[in-house]
Amino acid sequence: MGPSASSDLFQLFQREFRLCRLEPGEVVAVVSESGSRAEYVEASLGAAQALGARVFHLGLPKTHRQDVPFIDEARAGGNRQSALSTAVKALKEANLVIDLTVEGLIHAPERGEILGAGARMLTIIEPPDVLHRCFPREDLRRRVERAAQLLGESTTLRVTSDAGTDLTMTVAQAPLVTQYGYTDQRGRWDHWPSGLVAVYPQEGSTQGTVVLDVGDIVFPFKRYIESPVEFVVRQGYIREINGQGLDADLLRDYFASWRDPEAYATSHMGWGLDETARWNSLALYDKGEIIGVEPRSFYGNFMFSTGPNRYANRFTRCHLDMPMRRCTVYLDDRPIIERGEIVHPEMIVTR
Ligand code: FE2
Repeated sequence: MGPSASSDLFQLFQREFRLCRLEPGEVVAVVSESGSRAEYVEASLGAAQALGARVFHLGLPKTHRQDVPFIDEARAGGNRQSALSTAVKALKEANLVIDLTVEGLIHAPERGEILGAGARMLTIIEPPDVLHRCFPREDLRRRVERAAQLLGESTTLRVTSDAGTDLTMTVAQAPLVTQYGYTDQRGRWDHWPSGLVAVYPQEGSTQGTVVLDVGDIVFPFKRYIESPVEFVVRQGYIREINGQGLDADLLRDYFASWRDPEAYATSHMGWGLDETARWNSLALYDKGEIIGVEPRSFYGNFMFSTGPNRYANRFTRCHLDMPMRRCTVYLDDRPIIERGEIVHPEMIVTR
């Protein structure tokens, strides 16, 4: 990387940290592991210092992939968990934790402890051009927060599609997640970039059918669906996975390989609001280059997910995020999205 690219990153990280309202004298912890983007470590340390923060860098050993059920953990080596629990004390002293680890500390048990101590936490994984292209905006935040407010006022969420999806769930008093790409509030986590809202419906309330259609996306496979797959959901769990094609076979096999009944639970549900995020971007990058927050955020997608729910003390590592196109989403019978187009006036972006 040449000098212009690194000064470009330095400027970009400064803009991002200003959005996070980083103040002189605040403590910033930069967390990385071997495999993290070295230029992001430098850009984070430099940008935070330039804004007058007191900065330290924490390097963790590399850990094995969390989404592979049949990995030999002993051979894969690197016990990040114990390193992180040792370091958690230091991280709790920080006002802002910059998480540059390869998969993010999103599901680490220590995350709650760090946020609980008041630190704001920001995950940065995606390549530089994605950080640029989907750079957060205050208007995106406004729309994401409005979406969360609407969810908070609603009782029922229903999602349908011409492909055959018809799923309902109870969202009254349900935990909400907002992501708009930066964080300026004590104890709040975000992921740069992103633009989505999610809810963890009441346990056992999710009911109906989800049909993944051609062009819908499955994480962690980082793959577009090429042959339809039907999930039959009763009382919050997937009871059947139907379909003749490779995608249905892959999904059935992946779920089964965890040997964990909790893998089949449904998890968070929500929709994407970022008009700068591209559905087709997944086709353009190598799998190892991205974590895929852009294809999770694209404007008007509905994201169905399965597996963990920390609010229900369910910590299965089998976690799938499945952004779907062309869905219609209702909150208490009021349409919010129609066939993939946002129709709620306060969330629409004119493109
Ligand atoms: Fe997820």
